[in-house]
Amino acid sequence: MEHGKQVYEGKAKIIYETDNPDYYIQFFKDDASAFNAKKLGTIESKGVFNNSISSRLLQEVERQGVPTHFVEKLSEREMLVKKLDIILVEVVLRNIIAGSLAKRMGVEEGARLPNTIVDLHLKNDELDDPLINEDTAVAFGLATREELAQMREYAFKVNDILTSFFSERNIDLVDFKLEFGRCAAEGGKLLLGDEITPDGCRFWEKGTGRKLDKDRFRRDLGQVEDAYAEVEKLVIE
Ligand code: TMP
Repeated sequence: MEHGKQVYEGKAKIIYETDNPDYYIQFFKDDASAFNAKKLGTIESKGVFNNSISSRLLQEVERQGVPTHFVEKLSEREMLVKKLDIILVEVVLRNIIAGSLAKRMGVEEGARLPNTIVDLHLKNDELDDPLINEDTAVAFGLATREELAQMREYAFKVNDILTSFFSERNIDLVDFKLEFGRCAAEGGKLLLGDEITPDGCRFWEKGTGRKLDKDRFRRDLGQVEDAYAEVEKLVIE
């Protein structure tokens, strides 16, 4: 499949048109950013690892009943996906206290939550992806109540699928971010889009709590490439 015109360039990916109007190519870069682009860097081969990890995980959630934009892995860094109109609401699920939740609540990271928390964020880099709620999303026309309910249902299903997938590989799924979109070619059907990678998930080794995700980059913990390589290995095995 040939590259068409570039549609969008984000922090970690580039989206291209293809010769099929219903499909895009998603190209994974090595660029890394944190704290909404206040910290920039490169993680060698991240794009290769993330394409591989995301291809495997999107296929897995699709197989278990959550519709996604994934069509096929085309090459080391390229994935063919269905064209989506991305909903500007990011859905974050949290099983264990970490990151901005720990900061917001003034507590240490690490405790398992008695119930999974769903946080909604506005997808807007200039505003630092602020936390919003369902009423705000509806009032500003970002999504309908029905779409938000469907996103929540899919997000919990993804959480169940990935929690057990990683648990079998000795990893705790701490939290993660999902993006959804409407697929015009399928009558506006809601599909899971974007990626599922260590850029947008926290993975902690069970028992030791060793971090295998982008926190190694955000917090200068070292062995960043090794962590992505390790996740790829255990995901594709
Ligand atoms: P947080 O602790 O910064 O709120 O992030 C929670 C999880 O969601 C973490 O795994 C990173 C992911 N995330 C993103 O990838 N992008 C985002 O814009 C946000 C808000 C979270």
